[in-house]
Order: sequence, then structure tokens, then C-alpha cells
Amino acid sequence: MVKSTFGKNLTVSIFGESHGAAIGVVIDGLAAGIPLDMAAIRRDLDFRRATGAISTARQEGDEFEIVSGFFEGHTTGTPLCLMIRNTSTRSGDYARTKDLLRPGHADYTAFVKYGDWQDYRGGGHFSGRITAPLVAAGAICRQILAAHGVMIGTHIAECGGVADAPMPSDEAALAAALDRLNNTAFAVLDADRGDKMQQAVLAAKADGDSVGGVLETAVIGMPAGIGEPFFNSVESTLAHLLFSVPAVKGVEFGAGFAFAGMRGSEANDPWRMQDGRLRTATNNNGGINGGISNGMPIVFRTVIKPTPSIYREQQTVDYAARQDATLQIKGRHDPAIIHRARVVIDAAAAIGLCELFCEAFGTAWQIDGIVNK
Ligand SMILES: Cc1cc2nc3c(=O)[nH]c(=O)nc-3n(C[C@H](O)[C@H](O)[C@H](O)COP(=O)(O)O)c2cc1C
Repeated sequence: MVKSTFGKNLTVSIFGESHGAAIGVVIDGLAAGIPLDMAAIRRDLDFRRATGAISTARQEGDEFEIVSGFFEGHTTGTPLCLMIRNTSTRSGDYARTKDLLRPGHADYTAFVKYGDWQDYRGGGHFSGRITAPLVAAGAICRQILAAHGVMIGTHIAECGGVADAPMPSDEAALAAALDRLNNTAFAVLDADRGDKMQQAVLAAKADGDSVGGVLETAVIGMPAGIGEPFFNSVESTLAHLLFSVPAVKGVEFGAGFAFAGMRGSEANDPWRMQDGRLRTATNNNGGINGGISNGMPIVFRTVIKPTPSIYREQQTVDYAARQDATLQIKGRHDPAIIHRARVVIDAAAAIGLCELFCEAFGTAWQIDGIVNK
């Protein structure tokens, strides 16, 4: 069983633990000769990195090193391995509370699965830190997609009970919005609402607590005809990756759960001819019909739960003593994950779409481009 590798055509394997020597990713299936923009990888890693009062005090540099599959500024076509060394570890914080299971975290389930052999320090393999190499892999995939006109962007649609402005439905306005989001650290469309969200995060932090939220992602420039029904549909491929991200507890495409309250006449997206292309007047189906892209923007929303590690005293169990206990968490944790997770979601989407493009066109599209239907 292969557990830490996603994909069949473009495989992405992640490795590492929060307080181990390094974390990293191996990508296999990249075409030879793709120029890589290191600054774009750096930018995405910086968006995921903790900075400022609304993030954990563990602030890693996330310096990355490509140790294989890359020569003279281009991919070689052999497995590309990217590593990030862990530098800011304070394992003592975790030794004190090792057996006190953090509610909402993976401590209990990891003990059951791996016994005493799991590296519990800093959450081990279950730390949000493991998403840094995923982001780096996603940044590579995003570059390949962008070179062929496919752009991905995410905003914080809701955080701590505050909603952002909606994504524009007009395609030119949506393209401009995604461009702005991809150059913004706290990814909101309305800066005032973003300030209110950050105040909500700080208020939760002051209470020793945390908040969650909803991310909304759009993919533009998608050709119609991508996706492999039944089991490798666009939705099932993206959902597989999105649900692999720690703290993701829900995903919906297009109108999602709101379909439940609609009639067919409202839910259906009417077809129109526009400049010689098939378009839909609304996009309730989020750019996907029958698991295949229909050429409209792919739109999905992802729920990120509140950070499980909170500083408030909590009821738990001492796993070694097998008795009830109280937990007062030490260590460094985010009062919210959502502002850092947005680029993890972009990365997951980029990896999934590259896998589907490879299924349709082999590796050649990475250089030659995609066939726009
Ligand atoms: C970018 C990112 C940062 C995270 N930071 C923390 C953190 O500081 N403290 C914490 O308890 N959980 C953090 N998490 C969430 C945990 O890793 C996650 O809740 C845990 O592994 C349990 O998995 P589950 O929530 O998917 O069930 C983070 C997740 C992400 C994506």
C-alpha cells in the first residue's frame, strides 16, 4: 500500500516530521526542460509561513533546496526532490505533555496506529508543517498550469464569523481578483472585512482559543473535457487532495450544499453561445458536469476547522496512565490556520489538475500546452 504518494501520472510523495531533520517532497512525472521560477516557489512558501500576531510564534525560514531532477534552471525529467530543513524546533514543549492527548488533534489516533514509535514531537507527521513541501510541489504545478493559461486563486470567504465580499462572477473581474489574491498575504477581496477577521482571530487568541473558516477557490482558463469519470472525476480527484490537508473537514463544489434548497430551474446553469464558445449563464455546478470540466471557472469551498491546540485548559485522558486528566498546552500554535492554509489549498488544486492533464495528454502538455476544446 502506498500511503504517502498521490497520483498515477504525476506522483507527489511527501515525507518528514515536524521536529525531524527535514521535510520534503518528491515529484515524479515532470517533463524535461521546464524552466522553474524559484521566486514563485518562495512566494507560495512565504504565504504559508507563519508571520505576525495571528500566527504561531514558531517562525521557520522555510529555506528550500532542490536536490535532484533540476539542472541549469530546468527540470531534467527525473524525480525532483525538494527539501526544507527544520530549524526552529522546541521539542521540550511536547515531552512534558506527551501522553496527554490533545482533543481534536491526531495524538490518540497516531498512538493507536503507530504505538510508541510515532515521533510525537510537534505533532510529528500530523503537523501543519508537513504542508510546506506540498505547497512547494503545488508552486511548481501552478507554474506549469499558468504557462498554459490556467490560474488558481483562493480567498478567505469567512473567518471567525466575518464574511469576505463574494468572488466576482464576471470572468475578467475574476481574473483580476485572482491576480490580486495571489499577491496578497491575508487573502481577502475586501480589506476592511479582512481587518475584522484578523480582529476576530486576535480576540480568540486573547481568550486562549482559536477560530476556523471557509476558503473559496476559483480556477480560470480551464479547458472543457478534463476529468476521468468514474473514480478520477475532477471532483473526486480534487476532493482526495483537499481532504488530505490537515484541518480540512468539508469541501463543496459550486453551489454545493445550497443545492438542497434549490429547484432544478434555479440549479441548472443555462447554456449560452458567447464569442463562439459555449458558456453557462450561471455557474452553480462550479465548472464541472459529470466529473468533467465544462470550461467555466472551477469553483469550490473548503472548511478549515479551528486550530485544535488551544491554550485553554481542556479535559482529556493520560494515554499512558489511562486515566482522566486536564491538559494545559505549551508549545507554539496558530490561533487560526485559515490564512496560511489558503496556499495549501491552491497547491492541492494545482497538483490534482496537473495529474488530470497528464492523464489526458501525457507529460507533453507541460511543454507543448493543452488542447482547448
Ligand atoms: C498550515 C497548517 C497549520 C497548522 N497549524 C497547527 C497548529 O499550530 N496547531 C495545531 O494544533 N494544529 C495545526 N494544524 C492542524 C493539524 O495539523 C490537524 O488538525 C491535525 O493533524 C488533525 O487532523 P484533522 O484536523 O484533519 O483531523 C495546522 C494545519 C495546517 C494546514
